[in-house]
Amino acid sequence: MKWSQLTSLVVAGSALSAMAASSAGPSSCVTFDVNWNLLAFGFNGKDFNAGTQDTWAAAGTPTDITTTGRPPFDMPNTTCYLAQFFNAIYVLNADSANPSSVYIYDVAKKSWSMQKVDTANSGSSKTFDPTNFKAILDHDTNVFYSYSAGEMFALDMKELVAATSAAIPWTDVQAPDLSAHTDNAQAQTPGANTDGYQPVMALAQNHIHFLGINGIDPGNAKIFVIHFSFMQPTPQFYGTKFPSTHGQAASFFLDSGVQQEFAFIPDDGSATYVINVETNTTKTLTGPPVADPFASYSASTSALVQLTTDGKVAFLPYDPKTTTSGGTWSTLAKLPAITGSGTSTSTGGNTSSSGTPGSSSSGGSSSSSGGNSSNNGGSGSGNSSSQTQNGNGDKGGAVSLRQGMWGVLLGTVVAGVGLML
Ligand SMILES: *[C@@H]1O[C@H](CO)[C@@H](O)[C@H](O)[C@H]1NC(C)=O
Ligand SMILES: *[C@@H]1O[C@H](CO)[C@@H](O)[C@H](O)[C@H]1NC(C)=O
Ligand SMILES: *[C@@H]1O[C@H](CO)[C@@H](O)[C@H](O)[C@H]1NC(C)=O
Ligand SMILES: *[C@@H]1O[C@H](CO)[C@@H](O)[C@H](O)[C@H]1NC(C)=O
Ligand SMILES: *[C@@H]1O[C@H](CO)[C@@H](O)[C@H](O)[C@H]1NC(C)=O
Repeated sequence: MKWSQLTSLVVAGSALSAMAASSAGPSSCVTFDVNWNLLAFGFNGKDFNAGTQDTWAAAGTPTDITTTGRPPFDMPNTTCYLAQFFNAIYVLNADSANPSSVYIYDVAKKSWSMQKVDTANSGSSKTFDPTNFKAILDHDTNVFYSYSAGEMFALDMKELVAATSAAIPWTDVQAPDLSAHTDNAQAQTPGANTDGYQPVMALAQNHIHFLGINGIDPGNAKIFVIHFSFMQPTPQFYGTKFPSTHGQAASFFLDSGVQQEFAFIPDDGSATYVINVETNTTKTLTGPPVADPFASYSASTSALVQLTTDGKVAFLPYDPKTTTSGGTWSTLAKLPAITGSGTSTSTGGNTSSSGTPGSSSSGGSSSSSGGNSSNNGGSGSGNSSSQTQNGNGDKGGAVSLRQGMWGVLLGTVVAGVGLML
């Protein structure tokens, strides 16, 4: 099947949900809070906190954190992102009635709100398409960058831990030049080499790494420097010839500061590559247990997590200092199997998907004994995540941090110049 055919199948709706597994990502997502508790959203109509990594492999029950205002999780390709400075989770593609809205989960308050988004992008003929994009959430600016049909867009989440009444816009950034220039002085051509590109976007050091580009050598990425809104003409080589194919990516967080490493999992699941953008090196780790080109991935400081289209969750422990290769994936035993949701099995056989997507709650446990929100090993290094926001708009700590980011940005700009020269 061709991508275009797959797309129309998915758009055709939930009657075809049994096919969705092979043409789109899950209608649920997993991510982390700032204390690296694993949060699982849209599991049989419920949301869970599965606690910290030390508790995942054991049997047990996750904490049910399902509450009002949550999205229905009735769209494919649901993705969720941690805004680390604000301990907020942003969820995209979770509500078919509001396909471009961003749902915001305030971890501290355990509350949801829906942020309206304006995709009209007045002043430009290019508009963001919520059914066809990849996105990253930039760590320091808290701005989403997306790639949608050959165009890049940005959505500024500011310091949001709850929705504001005004819609926020996806603004046009540029038509990137994805060709492999051999010389950084060469003129760029907007939109060059973007034809048919299925985006693979990975964030590290406030740079977006585009992988799997046609005509780019294995082991290389095209780098978009966020703070200059600049696509580096020459690709960057990362020391190991990981395949230049489509796949998925997830950035490893650090307890503070920008991500420096990301995982890249090619669609064939043959390996997990961990790319370090400081040292320009790549580690080759074990591929995920299920080779699922539509699986989604999320990473903490010490684990990579896979969520397959049929709702299985597995994790690969990763220590940036000591893990050099290999590694063993384990099933995340605490989470309930997803049943009857829009994310049915990918076996292609009889996949009875009778439930309304995301609405069944038969498999969910509601026990709340397993949560662990302890702040392990905090060093008090002056970030805002531990400063509770007081609920009436006074976000002093967060605001000063966002202003403080300009110091970080300056450093990044200098690094960016280094990269560009
Ligand atoms: C889901 O994502 C795939 C690519 O990963 C894309 O081809 C498809 O159009 C998306 N479907 C929807 C409904 O967003
Ligand atoms: C902030 O510090 C706490 C410990 O004080 C740590 O757990 C958390 O990950 C840090 N968050 C950020 C954004 O640096
Ligand atoms: C990584 O590559 C960049 C650009 O080619 C270079 O400026 C930088 O010095 C490299 N880093 C290391 C540690 O070699
Ligand atoms: C699917 O399997 C169920 C249970 O085995 C069965 O009742 C149902 O008739 C099957 N549906 C189809 C379309 O084969
Ligand atoms: C929570 O996590 C901390 C740090 O990993 C651990 O010491 C503690 O025993 C855990 N508590 C529970 C209830 O799991």
